[in-house]
Amino acid sequence: MDIVVSGIRSTGKLHLGNYFGALKNFIKMQHENKCYFFIADYHSLTTHPTPENLHGSVKQVLAEYLACGLDPEVATLYIQSDLPEIPELYLLLNMNAYLGELERCTSFKEKIRKHPNNVNAGLLTYPTLMAADIIIHRAHKVPVGKDQEQHLEMTRTFANRFNRLYNVEYFPEPVAYNFGEELVKIPGLDGSGKMGKSEGNAIYLSDDPETIRKKVMKAVSDSGPTEPNQPKPEAIQNLFTIMKVVSTPDTYAYFDDKYNTCQIRYGDLKKQLAEDITRFTDPFREKIEAILADNKYLSDVAEMGAEKARQSASQTIKEVREIIGFRRF
Ligand code: TYM
Repeated sequence: MDIVVSGIRSTGKLHLGNYFGALKNFIKMQHENKCYFFIADYHSLTTHPTPENLHGSVKQVLAEYLACGLDPEVATLYIQSDLPEIPELYLLLNMNAYLGELERCTSFKEKIRKHPNNVNAGLLTYPTLMAADIIIHRAHKVPVGKDQEQHLEMTRTFANRFNRLYNVEYFPEPVAYNFGEELVKIPGLDGSGKMGKSEGNAIYLSDDPETIRKKVMKAVSDSGPTEPNQPKPEAIQNLFTIMKVVSTPDTYAYFDDKYNTCQIRYGDLKKQLAEDITRFTDPFREKIEAILADNKYLSDVAEMGAEKARQSASQTIKEVREIIGFRRF
């Protein structure tokens, strides 16, 4: 049976990109594999949240995991900071992670560009922490969106390097996984790039219908095609890409045809898109609220998950320490 690990940073609420890029696959995989899904709260510290924000975000993401259908009795659902074995493995991996390769990482370069005043060591070593998250359970598959591809490549590098250095075949090579399909990238509503929490272009699973409608109606579009069967400009393609995941194939085909015959009215497309997103997120919103109100349930889930996850993590750390040479006399 394959071991599956994945997580989402606790930097606020989950958006459609998180759902279609990762969460949907987590949920599909939980019954056929040994699955570990966690909330990456250590990772969120790179942006210095207040204690209240950190606490609130972890709770929100846990409630959202559960509302979307992650079953804590089936999968192991836990909070990263409940496993001291993860920072221990992170420390060990950092000893064999080189400045050059960490500095070359695209997400690090992007952070330097966007936040030149907060280039902390946590950002630089983000890929080793992520590798520790994954290999702490000796995972085979990691369901993630396209933006995490390079991090997975680095995870394989660190895992292989450990095996080579100590002449063992201990860590498997984990792969980014999407059921044999291309990894997913859900675009934002601002005309370019991906949907992201920090980009201000996201629709959240917990958004109410009016918020969704306003966001979609304001999404970037253009004045429409002037010739039939032309490729769609990026902003328009983005709306179609979101439509592809939330609307029926018939709806998608209808608007695609309108576009190709230059009869498209973006107001109509956006109205339909907002309705379809709302229909999709409606059941989640109510469940998220109900679960958020139940602290006892959330605490029990976190407690049970931590216990199960630590069994696997402590076994790995025990073996890794032995391999490295931390041994009793
Ligand atoms: P994060 O928290 O940014 O995103 C969580 C997951 O959602 C996916 N995702 C998207 N997929 C498609 N389109 C989008 N617009 C989009 N936005 C986000 C991400 O690919 C990811 O799968 N470093 C990770 C969290 C992490 C992790 C791990 C993941 C920490 N340790 C170990 C897997 C395994 C991150 O920041 O994802």
